Amino acid sequence: MKEELKNIKEKILEEIKKVQLPEEIKDLEKKYLGRKGEFTNLVKKIKDLTDEQKPIIGKLANDLKIELEETFSNLQKEIKTGVDDLKSRFTIDPTLQSSKKEVGHLHPNTIIQNEVVDIFYSMGFMILDGPELESEYYNFEALNIPTTHPAREMHDTYFVKTDKDFKKSEKMVLRTHTSSMQVRALEEFGAPIRAIFPGKCFRNEATDAAHDNTFYQLEGLMVDRNISIANLVSVMNTLLTQIFKKEVKTRLRPGYFPFVEPGFELDVNCLICGGKGCSVCGDGWVELIPCGLVHPRVIENGGLDPQEYSGFAFGMGLTRLVMMKYGIEDIRLLQSGDLRFTRQF
Ligand code: FA5
Repeated sequence: MKEELKNIKEKILEEIKKVQLPEEIKDLEKKYLGRKGEFTNLVKKIKDLTDEQKPIIGKLANDLKIELEETFSNLQKEIKTGVDDLKSRFTIDPTLQSSKKEVGHLHPNTIIQNEVVDIFYSMGFMILDGPELESEYYNFEALNIPTTHPAREMHDTYFVKTDKDFKKSEKMVLRTHTSSMQVRALEEFGAPIRAIFPGKCFRNEATDAAHDNTFYQLEGLMVDRNISIANLVSVMNTLLTQIFKKEVKTRLRPGYFPFVEPGFELDVNCLICGGKGCSVCGDGWVELIPCGLVHPRVIENGGLDPQEYSGFAFGMGLTRLVMMKYGIEDIRLLQSGDLRFTRQF
């Protein structure tokens, strides 16, 4: 019995070492010293001992019980103090002022681009990205733009010096429009194709309220059998009604672009001045979506037979659209980096 008391003491002390929470001590105390606890059950066996052994073992058991009870109680206090100490060190004071973290947000160009992309995506158009540094071929030649076209002059376009060993000794340009993606897309995907190409364009402009040297366009291209102006008009109407979420006055007038035939200018009645005339529109109309039927030579350059395939293309001035949507009076604000401006969106 002496041996058993010694063993149970060692066992309890061993288990005590692993305890971390006040609740665990209570459980342990109950496990050994409770009414049906292991220690209590052991003590109950004393009554079966000889009369000689009873007082000796009884005293041993009693001393051990007192010792264990003290150990449990001290431990309980120790852990509680530790936990309280931890709690006090990590107390949250909700009245304290937090350091203000500024969260960034999307630029108005990106907001509108995402909206337009969603509209075209719902009409089954793919969204393609293309190089901003473009070869003269895709920016001009593939699009039937003759060398005499003003856009090919140094004063209109940023030409970029390239290594003289560059392939085909081609000149490179910062693309002047997203139309540079038309032939690339036809080469890559063939027909039928429905795709849009949003992106940045660059022109050597004398900037004003409506013109910047860097701006965004969103090009669209649809090529298939039997595509006509009716398809073009229908897609443009769907687009504008969904963007402006109201009826907007538009007009279609003839426009010349070497890569479409026939070509049009789709203008929107200025939403900044309501059509009266202002620094953005001049005469109440804003040139927004030049468009037309893809020129047979472009279809051919894309590797398709123009007798079999036809299509439409448009090149929307995305930055101008942003201006119309938000009533921004000067295009230069959009790239100014002025936080007083961008924080408004
Ligand atoms: C073009 O760039 C043609 N590639 C568009 C096209 C595509 C026509 C497909 C036919 C078929 P344009 O130079 O007009 O066209 O420019 C298109 C639009 O870009 C303009 O209507 C205008 O909204 C916008 N834009 C042009 N130059 C600037 C500029 N400097 N700053 C801001 N927006 C501009």
